[in-house]
Amino acid sequence: MRKLRSLTALIALVFAPLAVGGAIALSAHAQSAAPSANAADAASAAAAAATANAKPTAPGAMQIVRGEYLARAGDCIACHTVPSQPMFGGGRPMETPFGTLYTPNISSDKTFGIGAWSADEFYRMLHEGKSRDGTLLYPAMPFASYTKVTRADSDAIYAYLMSTSPVHQPNRAHTLRFPYNQRSLLLGWRALFFRAGEFKPDPKQSVEWNRGAYLVEGLGHCTMCHTEINALGGNSASKEFQGGLIPLQNWYAPSLTSNKEAGLGDWSIDDIVDLLHAGVSNRGAVYGPMAEVVYDSFQYLTEDDVRAVAVYLKSLPGHSNEVDKSPKSQFVNEEANRLAPLGKKIYEAQCAVCHATQGQGKLPHFPPLANNQSIQMNSAVNPIRMVLNGGYAPGTKKNPMPYGMPPFAQSLSDEEVAAVVTYIRTAWGNHGAPVSVKEVNALRSAPLF
Ligand code: HEC
Ligand code: HEC
Ligand code: HEC
Repeated sequence: MRKLRSLTALIALVFAPLAVGGAIALSAHAQSAAPSANAADAASAAAAAATANAKPTAPGAMQIVRGEYLARAGDCIACHTVPSQPMFGGGRPMETPFGTLYTPNISSDKTFGIGAWSADEFYRMLHEGKSRDGTLLYPAMPFASYTKVTRADSDAIYAYLMSTSPVHQPNRAHTLRFPYNQRSLLLGWRALFFRAGEFKPDPKQSVEWNRGAYLVEGLGHCTMCHTEINALGGNSASKEFQGGLIPLQNWYAPSLTSNKEAGLGDWSIDDIVDLLHAGVSNRGAVYGPMAEVVYDSFQYLTEDDVRAVAVYLKSLPGHSNEVDKSPKSQFVNEEANRLAPLGKKIYEAQCAVCHATQGQGKLPHFPPLANNQSIQMNSAVNPIRMVLNGGYAPGTKKNPMPYGMPPFAQSLSDEEVAAVVTYIRTAWGNHGAPVSVKEVNALRSAPLF
C-alpha cells in the first residue's frame, strides 16, 4: 500500500516539468540565449530529409544544423536553460508538492555537462530513460515520448549539443522528500507506463502524416500536457490527446482530436498552422504554457513540418465523451441566469473594445471568444486566469509584435470575474458551463507561472 501511495505521488514528478512551463512565456521575450533563428531556415532542406526513417546524414556541419532544428522540435531549451543564463546549463527549478527537481546541465562541458558522453549513451538516455551510469530518470524528462526518436535524429541532437559552448556549472541536487527521492519507485512507474520503441511509420498513411505523427508523438511530447493523467501518474492510452488539466500549473490543455466541439474537428489545417507557427489564428491565440511551446519550439519549425503536425492532428479520431452533454442541473442554470446579465454589462464595458460585441474578435490581433474551444472546456481555469492575469501572445517570426490583454484582477471582484467568464462561456452559442465565485477566488492565489 505504502508503495502504491508513493507511486501515486510520482504523479507530481511526471507533472513537474509542466509547472516550470509558463515561467518562460513572458520572460521569453527577453531571452538572450536563443540559438540563431535562421538556423531553422538553413535547416529546412535538411529537415525535409529528416523523415522518420531517414538514414544518418554525413557527420559535420549539416548534422549539427539538423540537430539544432530537432532540439527545437523537442523544446530541450525550455527545461534545460534558466532564462537569460547560458544555454543548456540546466539548474531550472521544477516545483512539485514533494520537493523540487533541478534540470541537469546538458551542455558540452566534460565535467558537469554531457561532454564526456558517447552518442550511444545519449541514444540510450533518450530511448530508455537512463542516465550515463544507468540511473533511471524521472519521467519529468519526457523520455516516454523521446523514445520514438530515430537513431539518426538522436545522433544529430547529440552532435548539436556537443557543438554548443560548455557551461562549467555543477548540477544542483533535487530536493525531493523521502520516499520520492527513491529512484527504485520508478521501476513500478516504468512497468505500468513506459514502452521503449522508435516510431514506426504507417505505410498506409502519407509521408506528410507520418512526419506529423513522428513529431507529435516523439520530440513534440504533446501528450505530456494534452492527455489526462490518471491516478498513477501515467497517460492512459485510451484518453490520448483528449485534453487534460495540468495540475500544479492550473491550465487546461484542450483536446487535440477531431471532436468538433472539444477538439480541432472544425478547424481548417491553415488555422492550426497559423496558431502553432504565428501564435495567433482565426480561432484564437495561444496563451499560458502553449505560448511558451510556440515561442521556444514551433515558430522555428518549417511551415511544412507544422503543416504535417496539423495533418496528423486532424486525423485523430474524436470521442463522444469529450464534451459533457448531460442536461445542466437547475442550480447551474440558475447560476448562469443570475450571473449572465452582470457579465454582459461588464463584457460590453471592458472587453468588447478588443474582442468585439459578438465575441468575433478583431483579427489578427484580438482573438475571437465566440466558438473558441480553449475557453469552453469542462474546466474553466483558462478563461478565469486570462481575465485575472491578462497575457501576451508570443512574439514570433510571423507575428513579431503581439498585442496584449490587460489583467483584471485588481479592477474586478470575484463575483464580477465569475459573471464575465460565465457570459463569454455561454454567449454566442458557446457551450461552456457557468463558473462560480469560489472557483475564481481559488485561482486568484494560483502562482502566476
Ligand atoms: C519538460 C522538461 C524537459 C524537457 C522538455 C527536456 N528535458 Fe531533459 N531532463 C529533464 C529533467 C527534469 C531531467 C532530470 C531527470 C532526473 O533527474 O531523473 C532531465 C534529464 C536529461 C538528461 C540526463 C542528464 C544526466 O546527467 O543524467 C539529458 C541528457 C537530457 N535531459 C537531455 C534532453 C534533451 C536532449 C532534450 C530535448 C530533446 C530534453 N532533455 C528535454 C527535463 C526535461
Ligand atoms: C507544457 C504543456 C503543453 C505542451 C507540451 C503542449 N501544449 Fe498545446 N496547449 C497547452 C495549453 C495549456 C493550451 C491551452 C491554451 C491555448 O489555447 O493556447 C494548449 C493549446 C493548444 C492548441 C489550441 C487548442 C484549442 O482548442 O484552442 C493546439 C492546437 C495545441 N495546443 C497543440 C499542441 C501540440 C501539437 C503540441 C505538441 C507539439 C502541444 N500542443 C504541446 C499546453 C501544452
Ligand atoms: C486591450 C485589448 C483587450 C481587452 C480590453 C481584453 N482582451 Fe482578452 N485578449 C486580448 C488579447 C491580445 C488576447 C491574446 C492574449 C494571449 O494570447 O495571451 C486576449 C485573450 C483573451 C482570452 C483567451 C482566448 C484566446 O484564444 O487567446 C480570453 C478568454 C479573453 N481574452 C477574455 C477577455 C475578457 C473576458 C475581457 C474583459 C474582461 C478581455 N478579454 C479584455 C485583448 C484584450
